[in-house]
Amino acid sequence: EQIEKGGYDHFMLKEIHEQPKAIRDTYRGRLLRNEAIIKMAGVEDNMKKFLNANRFIIVACGTSWHAGLVAEYIFEDLIRVPVEVEYASEFRYRNPVINENDVVIAISQSGETADTLAAIKLAKSKGAFVFGVCNVVGSSIARETHAGAYTHAGPEIGVASTKAFTTQITVLTLMALRLARAKGTISSSDFRTCLLELELIPNKVEQALKSDIHISLIADIYKNSLNCLYLGRGYNFPVALEGALKLKEISYIHAEGYPAAEMKHGPIALIDENMPIVVIATKKGHYEKVVSNIQEIKSRKGKIIAIVSEGDEQVTELADHVIEVPETLEFLTPLLTTIPLQLLSYHIAVLLDKNVDQPRNLAKSVTVE
Ligand code: G6P
Repeated sequence: EQIEKGGYDHFMLKEIHEQPKAIRDTYRGRLLRNEAIIKMAGVEDNMKKFLNANRFIIVACGTSWHAGLVAEYIFEDLIRVPVEVEYASEFRYRNPVINENDVVIAISQSGETADTLAAIKLAKSKGAFVFGVCNVVGSSIARETHAGAYTHAGPEIGVASTKAFTTQITVLTLMALRLARAKGTISSSDFRTCLLELELIPNKVEQALKSDIHISLIADIYKNSLNCLYLGRGYNFPVALEGALKLKEISYIHAEGYPAAEMKHGPIALIDENMPIVVIATKKGHYEKVVSNIQEIKSRKGKIIAIVSEGDEQVTELADHVIEVPETLEFLTPLLTTIPLQLLSYHIAVLLDKNVDQPRNLAKSVTVE
């Protein structure tokens, strides 16, 4: 097992550090920048289905559901088709309105999650075209879907999902860009810029990973907190949910993710000097609005850990701690802002001496209801 961990103390840490490679492996052979094209066999072969779809319905569970939420923002923005994101467990039991003009995208790392599999079968029985985004080759979901695209994350052993999440977002981003090109909802020059920026992401993830020691020091300050709030807006709202899930899963600290502006409708009541609040406040995307959310928190003495863009000044002045990530296009920021949140949960769990790779009560793949 020590050898399998490749010199890291835990599989989770190894998998966090594998993300530059995993993301690169996932777009390799698909993102052809010199030719300015994206090639994905499962999408090309079914282009008519995708182009004629009245809407996309994404079904998934857990972290994969969060990747689906990120995709909702990206798809609607790039291809202008409505997207709904459903918990597979709810979708399968609520007699959903669905027909042959819908495209269902099922996201699953393991490809074995019982609820997601059942949602796929239901969608198929109503005539929908079902596309799978899985990591495990030949898994039940990969076989049950009409077509699909694999993430190339490699085996994920840590129960708390890390590299599966960022590679799912990578596949879904490639799909959205490919479809946007086919639909004509993106100009060829913007498309080229996106390809270029996506190719730079692995190096930028590498850069973000360099904050590891700085994050471990922040983790030490907050490890005994009873609660933690995660806030983000737009593309980074799902990242806030995912950050909170990571902390809950492995440190057993109660954490909630919220869209930053919703804070005033409830969570603000929880804020006092003992409450750490992780705010994703990158320059792109509602920056000024997030700054005012931060001011509201500070006036209630909350402690702010902010994820900011390199060289940030405004938030840096207000926050108790800042963690920098490189700049990129707004829709690609989740691939970078996720990294410090994974490391923060990891270090808190290690400091609390929790079983990071196999947290209590959780399973890597949930094959029963
Ligand atoms: C379990 C795992 C999570 C995972 C979820 C969905 O709860 O512990 O990490 O996100 O199942 O799994 P899937 O394999 O379908 O992505």
